[in-house]
Amino acid sequence: MTVQIDHALEEIRRFRPSPEFAANAVADSALYEAAQADRVGFWADQSRDLLHWDKPFTKTLDWTNPPFAKWFEDGDLNVAVNCLDRHVEAGNGDRVALHWVGEPGDTRDITYAELTDEVKRAANVLTDLGVGSGDRVAIYLPMIPEAVVSMLAVARIGAIHSVVFGGFSADSLASRIDDAEASLVITADGGYRKGKVFALKPVVDDALTKSVGDSVRNVLVVKRGENEVEWTEGRDLWWHETVATASSEHEAQAFEAEHPLFILYTSGTTGKPKGILHTSGGYLTQAAFTHKNVFDLHPETDVYWCTADVGWITGHSYVVYGPLANGATQVLYEGTPDTPHPGRWWEIVEQYKVSILYTAPTAIRSFMKLGRQIPHAFNLRSLRLLGSVGEPINPEAWIWYRHVIGGGSIPVVDTWWQTETGAIMISALPGVTDLKPGSAQVAVPGISIDILADDGTPVEGEDGGLLVITEPWPSMLRGIWGDPERFKETYWEKFGDKYFAGDGARRDADGDIWLLGRVDDVMNVSGHRLSTAEIESSLVAHPWTAEAAVVGAADETTGQAVVAFVILKASQAAQVTDVAAASEELRKHVAGQIGAIARPRQVFIVNELPKTRSGKIMRRLLRDLAEGREVGDTTTLADTSIMQVISDQVK
Ligand code: WTA
Repeated sequence: MTVQIDHALEEIRRFRPSPEFAANAVADSALYEAAQADRVGFWADQSRDLLHWDKPFTKTLDWTNPPFAKWFEDGDLNVAVNCLDRHVEAGNGDRVALHWVGEPGDTRDITYAELTDEVKRAANVLTDLGVGSGDRVAIYLPMIPEAVVSMLAVARIGAIHSVVFGGFSADSLASRIDDAEASLVITADGGYRKGKVFALKPVVDDALTKSVGDSVRNVLVVKRGENEVEWTEGRDLWWHETVATASSEHEAQAFEAEHPLFILYTSGTTGKPKGILHTSGGYLTQAAFTHKNVFDLHPETDVYWCTADVGWITGHSYVVYGPLANGATQVLYEGTPDTPHPGRWWEIVEQYKVSILYTAPTAIRSFMKLGRQIPHAFNLRSLRLLGSVGEPINPEAWIWYRHVIGGGSIPVVDTWWQTETGAIMISALPGVTDLKPGSAQVAVPGISIDILADDGTPVEGEDGGLLVITEPWPSMLRGIWGDPERFKETYWEKFGDKYFAGDGARRDADGDIWLLGRVDDVMNVSGHRLSTAEIESSLVAHPWTAEAAVVGAADETTGQAVVAFVILKASQAAQVTDVAAASEELRKHVAGQIGAIARPRQVFIVNELPKTRSGKIMRRLLRDLAEGREVGDTTTLADTSIMQVISDQVK
């Protein structure tokens, strides 16, 4: 009986593409067939179709030295030219590339011709500052057009950008600058967030005093917040005094397909963030391919909006490189969804007639809480496709998104991928695939995935295990900056030449994939990756702390939340009489050291942590406590009574 009911639910929760949508869809099932027949040849065809190669490649893939792949190795291209100049040359210079909306309400529409000019001017300034091919440039900017311009200017001259999210602290910025040995930092005086100016340049100044190296020669500063900033003569330059007045004549040079494009730091299972390295031709091919086919992009008529910040991989691939390579028109919004009112996003959708919206489940769940009356005060009928990324989207949120935001009948695509994969790997193709709420569904054409048991044997049929990518893909990471050993160990040691993603997954009766979250010590808070080890080492750096354990606990809105258990040093414990104040101080400390996104939801001051006989902290038991569940099996603890003591303390 139950089986039948389940089956009926599954039936209801499958959505066939509407015939009207399918008739105009960019993707068709022939893509799957072509990729199936000749996977590598398929990518070669896509790359030739989607990109302009100054020197065409003749070799598609070199996988003779795994895990170091080379794609389109003997071809040359310029990534920025592919995103800009070629659209102007094709007669689309007047098409709007960016409808930029500042949080206070100021706006700018920037065409492809204008964006190309601005990037050329910035490229000339970078060259004048001595930045050349292969040099690293750190970018620490709010969501303003200059962020996009900076990334493309760096790419244009063959330098390598490292974008650092504007919410990261001076310490986090300093360690990223040092690790990449950046010679230039591009920042702003400040940006707008929640109706206020948040300072950026002072954080850069602070980071440069903290930085152990002395790689940074210059700081280029965009005026945005109009906040007071200090100035180091000879080092600091204003954007409006340099880029705005530079020449817009710039002849772009083509670089090899495997020329590095960017480094993006992401949290791993240790305290030290990893600098994920991406290169040019393969990355741009897959970013453009997925952007076009997963979002059903019709560049002449669509208005696309991805709400991610350029400080994350989603902002790299689906705000900058994918959409611009495809000549899309898009919205770029500086601020938060609820400023100055909770309907701000929907007002923007109405005003710009946004047709494709790509956002994160955490945002959808926050809107669900506020209620449908907020989006329904605006005309959202321009929307024809919705996307989700960053964490599993629960079926309820999927349904709400489709009904309340999408009006009930438009496709919702749930896209699974990672900083490391560079572009979307698992997603339905709208107009082709039946949609199933809660499941990321199927590998995109040309991508091979599997689910393995811990011993490496593939799980058959309806079963769960570890998600792997079984064949190299064009936008795969090429390494961890400066650490090839860590690259091999982290992703390739477990299953040989199969890439281990760190996610658990389950296959259902239809062969659709359901993501089950991380299987390692990485948390996912509001779609942002955080490492338990990094937050633990920040807590331990506080003079009061003796020991700390951090877990990701389920949270209704943010997916997971950071919950910390801290033992104070005996010398301090006596003086800390106000436990609430102490835990608040530790929460603030983490936000100050790493950034506000890492601030724990709760810090519990405890006398003990649950450890095995070999001294390993059993986070599983702490997670039970943090999620308010009955504590699981404690038999492997050195002292089995300890959980009772701890749970009495966290009440
Ligand atoms: C998770 C973000 C379920 C996953 C693009 C992955 C998802 C990590 C999904 C990467 C999804 C991302 N369904 N889980 N659609 N998308 N994830 O590097 O755990 O910031 O390993 O890249 O987010 O996070 P990252």
